Amino acid sequence: MNPAKNMITEKVDSLWVNVHLATMTETGPYGMVKDGAIAIGGGKIAWIGKGIDLPADFESQAAEVYDGQSGWVTPGLVDCHTHLVYGGSRAREFELRLQGATYEEIARQGGGIRSTVIATARRMIKSLLNQSIPRLLALMQEGVTTVEIKSGYGLDLETEIRMLRVARELGESYPVTVVPTYLGAHALPPEFEGRSDEYVDFVCNEVMPEVAAQHLAVAVDAFCEGIGFTHQQTERVFKTAKKLGLAVKLHAEQLSDLQGTALAARYGALSADHLEHVSQEGVKAMAASGTVAVLLPGAFYFLRETRLPPLDLLRRYSVPIALSTDCNPGSSPVTSLLLMLNMACTLFRMTPEEALAGVTRNGARALGLQNRIGTLEQGKDADFVIWDIAEPAELAYRVGFNPLKQVVRQGKLRPELS
Ligand code: NIG
Ligand code: FE
Repeated sequence: MNPAKNMITEKVDSLWVNVHLATMTETGPYGMVKDGAIAIGGGKIAWIGKGIDLPADFESQAAEVYDGQSGWVTPGLVDCHTHLVYGGSRAREFELRLQGATYEEIARQGGGIRSTVIATARRMIKSLLNQSIPRLLALMQEGVTTVEIKSGYGLDLETEIRMLRVARELGESYPVTVVPTYLGAHALPPEFEGRSDEYVDFVCNEVMPEVAAQHLAVAVDAFCEGIGFTHQQTERVFKTAKKLGLAVKLHAEQLSDLQGTALAARYGALSADHLEHVSQEGVKAMAASGTVAVLLPGAFYFLRETRLPPLDLLRRYSVPIALSTDCNPGSSPVTSLLLMLNMACTLFRMTPEEALAGVTRNGARALGLQNRIGTLEQGKDADFVIWDIAEPAELAYRVGFNPLKQVVRQGKLRPELS
C-alpha cells in the first residue's frame, strides 16, 4: 500500500524525521515504531510511520523539516484530574498530619477543603491566576498538553464561577488545552452545616444551570465519601448534570466503599477516580460502562494510604487505567506527572507501559477526547513531546529528572514557557 494514499490533508506544513515513536496505540509495546517520521498538516498528524516509507515529495512541500536527533516521541501528556486553581497553602495541615492527625479528622474539624475554600474566596481572578500559573507551567514543562481543572474550592455560586473562569483563562493564555469540570459537591460550606441536602439542591438548581448556560464546564464531579456527599446526594448531582447535557465523573472509594463507582458507571461516567476501596462489583460496573479508572498515586503517597487500588481486578476486567497528579493543596500538592509515572510503578506495581498509557491514551479517554488526542495516529491532533531518552520506560524510571526536549502542540513547536 502506498502510504501517501492515506493522506488526510493535501498539504504538509512540517515534518519530523529521525525520531523513534511511542505512538501508544494498542499495537505491540508502546505502539512502538523505531526510526519513524511524522508529517503535520493543518495542526493534525497528516502521516506517521517508518521514516523509510516517508513519501518523497513531503520534504519539498514542508515549510520546516525538524531533525529529532533520535529522540523518542510520545503523545502530549494528559493530566486528567487536577484541582490546580486554588488560593493559599495547606503546609500547616501537613505538619498536623505528621504529628498524627488524619486527613478525615482535620476535615471534620472544619479544616481541610474548607480552609482552602476560605483562602480561595478571598482572592480575585488576577490573584488566583497568579497562584495557579506556576503550577500549570510546571506540568507543561514536563510535557502536559491537556489538563483537566476542577472547581470545588468556591462552593458558593460566585466563587465557583470565578474558579472556572480562571481555568478558562489559563487555557486561553497558554499553549495547553484546559478541560474544566464543575465540582460543587466537594465539601459542605459552613453556612449549610447540618443541611447537606439543601446544599445539594443549591448545587443542582442554582449553580449547575448557570455553569451550563455559560459553558464554563464540560463535566460535573462530586466527592462521594463519609466526609463528602452520600450515594443518594451524588445521584441527584448526576441526574441534574445529565439533564443539562454535562458529562459526569466521580471521586469514588478513596477512603471507604460507598459504591460510588457502580453509581458513576450507571450514569455512564467518563471516569471514577481514586478507587483504593473499590469492590469487584464496582470494577465490573466500570468495565460494562466503559468508565475509565483514574488512579492518583500522589494522593495515595501524600496521605500515606496503605490500601492499594485493585490493579489485578482492573486488569482482569480490562478497565482502562489513567493516571493523574490530582494536583491540589490538601491530598496531593503535586505538579509532576512524570513523578506519577514512577509512583504508579513503585507503589501500585503498574508497568512503565501501563503508566505511560495512563497519561496518554487512557488519560484522553477519561476526558472523552480519545478521538482527538492520546495516541499518535493519522488524523489526530499533532500534540506530541520529543524526549531525550533511550527507551520509553525511562520516563517512569527516573525520579526528579526532566528529559523533555521539545513540545509540538496543534502542529506548532511550543515556544519556551515563561
Ligand atoms: O482528590 N478527595 C477530594 N478531593 C481532593 C482533595 C481536596 C483537598 O484536600 O483539598 C482529592 O483528594
Ligand atoms: Fe481530586
